Amino acid sequence: MTNADFEKIVDTTDEWIVTRTGIRERRIAENGTHGSDMTVQACRSALEMAQCSADEVELLIVGTVTPDYLLPSTACVVQEKMGLHNAVAFDVSAACAGFLNGVAIGASFIKTGAYKNVLAVGVEKLSAFTNYKDRNTCVLFGDAAGAALLAPDDSGHGVVSTFLKSDGRLRPLLWSRTGGTVNPYTPEFIFDGTDKIMMNGSEVFKVAVREMSNAALKVVADAGLQPSDISLVIPHQANIRIIEALAKRLHVGMDRVFMNIEKYGNTSAASVPLALDEANRQGKIRPGDYVLMVAFGGGLIWGAALVKW
Ligand code: ACO
Repeated sequence: MTNADFEKIVDTTDEWIVTRTGIRERRIAENGTHGSDMTVQACRSALEMAQCSADEVELLIVGTVTPDYLLPSTACVVQEKMGLHNAVAFDVSAACAGFLNGVAIGASFIKTGAYKNVLAVGVEKLSAFTNYKDRNTCVLFGDAAGAALLAPDDSGHGVVSTFLKSDGRLRPLLWSRTGGTVNPYTPEFIFDGTDKIMMNGSEVFKVAVREMSNAALKVVADAGLQPSDISLVIPHQANIRIIEALAKRLHVGMDRVFMNIEKYGNTSAASVPLALDEANRQGKIRPGDYVLMVAFGGGLIWGAALVKW
């Protein structure tokens, strides 16, 4: 869906969207394609790349706030679709930080020896929860999935440090009011659009810049490194201005920051793995590079992970 498509349905312009967000296009899943379907595709690609069979996967963590069902988890649906019969599968509800929560949990389990091959996924079908009458939010979101396989490695490569944090006091800044037990769906909510995502964009913006910077600096310091040691920053793709402000605070040039927001918009939990995969396929990450991933989302919740490639 292009910015021109949005000019036809809400009071907006390509110029406003590009200058305020950096977004030009987003991908919208077709009817009948759900988060589990996108996850299966992403996981199959990841397993193929890692030359790992479905039988060898011991843990599947799916970061999503747009699940196929309230019950069971999207992870269990994916487990069945892919035949991951030797795994335990569960979802993590951490909005845009969903993938990094999965990476941190997976890396911790690997460290304890509990599991070997862990699939960490970020997937969203945000189009199903977007109010296409609200110009404040509808131009921002897209659908996507990304996956990574984590496995033990004794050569010093892999997840070096992680940090996760949330502040539930700030949850009204970005939320979906209905659909749970507090406010079950009613025709009124669906009519006025409050069954969809609601956001105070400018307030979220400020917290995002501050906390993404803090989280990024913490994982770098915990690893005994400096921001100058980072080869590539892979930030959550929410807004080009947030990413530029983050780079400034980290004293990292934009040539060391990966961006693909222009093509996909904000895909919440999928955004970091999507960007990581594109950066890798474009040859922007070399063995031994330190890659810093950082994300922020509804909860509010945020986190970072530093990886030695
Ligand atoms: N087209 C034209 N005008 C618009 C549009 C639009 N699509 N959307 C908002 N406006 C208007 C507003 O109505 C407002 O008009 P007013 O001054 O007459 O009231 C004006 O533009 C400015 O609005 P702001 O909200 O102040 O605009 P801002 O510069 O903050 O940009 C944005 C808005 C892009 C949403 C920005 O605040 C942002 O990116 N916030 C962070 C989003 C984020 O990171 N979310 C977290 C992750 S999402 C997740 O977890 C699922």
